[in-house]
Amino acid sequence: MSQENPLRGEETTQRRPDPFILVIFGAGGDLTHRKLAPALYSLASQNLLPEEFAVVGFSRREMSDDNFRRDLAGAVGRFSRLSPVRAQVWQRLAERIFYVAGDFTTSDGYHRLGELLTRLDRERGTGGNRLFYLATPPSFYSTIAGRLGEAGLTRGGGWTRLVVEKPFGKDLTTARELNAQLYQVLQENQIYRIDHYLGKETVQNILAFRFANGIFEPVWNRRYVDHVQISVAESLGVERRGSYYEEAGALRDMVQNHLLQLLCLTAMEPPVAFDADAVRDEKVKVLRAIHPFTPKEAGSRAVRGQYTAGWVLGEPVVGYLREPGVVGDSPTETYAALKLFIDNWRWAGVPFYLRTGKRMPKRATEVAIQFKRAPHLLFSQTATPELEPNVLSMRIQPDEGIVLRFAAKVPGPTVRLRTVSMDFFYGTSFGTEPPEAYERLLLDWMLGDSTLFTRRDEVEAAWTLVTSLLESWGEGNAPYPYEAGTWGPREADALLERDERSWRRL
Ligand code: BG6
Repeated sequence: MSQENPLRGEETTQRRPDPFILVIFGAGGDLTHRKLAPALYSLASQNLLPEEFAVVGFSRREMSDDNFRRDLAGAVGRFSRLSPVRAQVWQRLAERIFYVAGDFTTSDGYHRLGELLTRLDRERGTGGNRLFYLATPPSFYSTIAGRLGEAGLTRGGGWTRLVVEKPFGKDLTTARELNAQLYQVLQENQIYRIDHYLGKETVQNILAFRFANGIFEPVWNRRYVDHVQISVAESLGVERRGSYYEEAGALRDMVQNHLLQLLCLTAMEPPVAFDADAVRDEKVKVLRAIHPFTPKEAGSRAVRGQYTAGWVLGEPVVGYLREPGVVGDSPTETYAALKLFIDNWRWAGVPFYLRTGKRMPKRATEVAIQFKRAPHLLFSQTATPELEPNVLSMRIQPDEGIVLRFAAKVPGPTVRLRTVSMDFFYGTSFGTEPPEAYERLLLDWMLGDSTLFTRRDEVEAAWTLVTSLLESWGEGNAPYPYEAGTWGPREADALLERDERSWRRL
């Protein structure tokens, strides 16, 4: 199985995958429409799909192949970043799309699926290579994997890979159970656990930035770094996902996966090689080095919040408790802020502040490394009233890029200093917008490169930390309210103020 280097993107994306069949469970859902179908279309239009391949949708609803094709065509038309849709490209893709109606829990559908896969292997030369993608509610993951195993579909004569969406479990125990259930039919190198943040160009660029440049790594440690802030702010609310979100909350939905992945890439040691195991080994070490929460610390190192009615981007919005699918007096958090410490030689004593929230004033994701002040300032206090310490801000989205803030002398006869910026933006440097995360992830499943997917020990280490906080918060711990369109509860500001620091303005 090839294990490609994520940083040698061009080389990777120019390789064409083996022949294969992609089977999508939950083919009628939002994820298939919004992410998968447009990503397939983008890959097809860049000629990155093999000649011999097929897509099979599997879902409960009765539908003909043609109706499924039309359904996906509509989704591509609506959600593709490449518009207008080129008829010739779509036609080539559509000819390879099929559909099987079936219940996830009973064997008949899997039987019909097996027959179709055998026929397609024969007619289309797909060589028994199968990629099963679980875009269903999580409660079906282990059932589907078990049924695939029983029906003999995980042994197609070629390779078999299973792609699992998040959430992967809802705490450490359930994540372990799910891993054990998947292991009954598959091995670790066949399982691809998605964290779509890892498919983002700007997230992969954290490693490029750190390890392909000689000048940053020497200062990337406790001697020079004062603290790190990782922020993922969303202006959206819970939209139509109220009932899912009720079970999740910000900690499970965002921190356990996306924010901890950003933290790992920012804090990890250089891997011995850029391959799947070496990169993931280093990430796991970071997660294991983080102090878990004790019940006492949950109050002093973490804050949870819930939005109330307010205004976002000029529109009035309802509070979380009024969202469809949300229980009247729900204690679910829509905002979380955490202070973490990584107990190792590089980071001992350096706080990592993490925050994420829905219904914030705008969408902005950033990793900011705040450096210590110069040890001795030559310039008088009056010359430096506006001087901030150096900050390196990696903008994940939007306005993708990197900004370094440093002091400069204001032109003129007197000595006055001000903080200025040096920046890099993807748009201006490369003249193109980064591709969608799913395009990269889809290509990596096809190529068998698991570098950008979370390994069993990684997912369990992340849950160990998050579960320690969930348990410490306990049942009765109500979230602090914050008005929609503000930057979270006052208590989250206090978390940093106690350390004589403040959240960055995004
Ligand atoms: C998903 C969460 O994993 O990530 C959503 O379930 C969240 O609640 C989304 O909105 C954010 O992703 P992005 O790519 O828009 O930052």
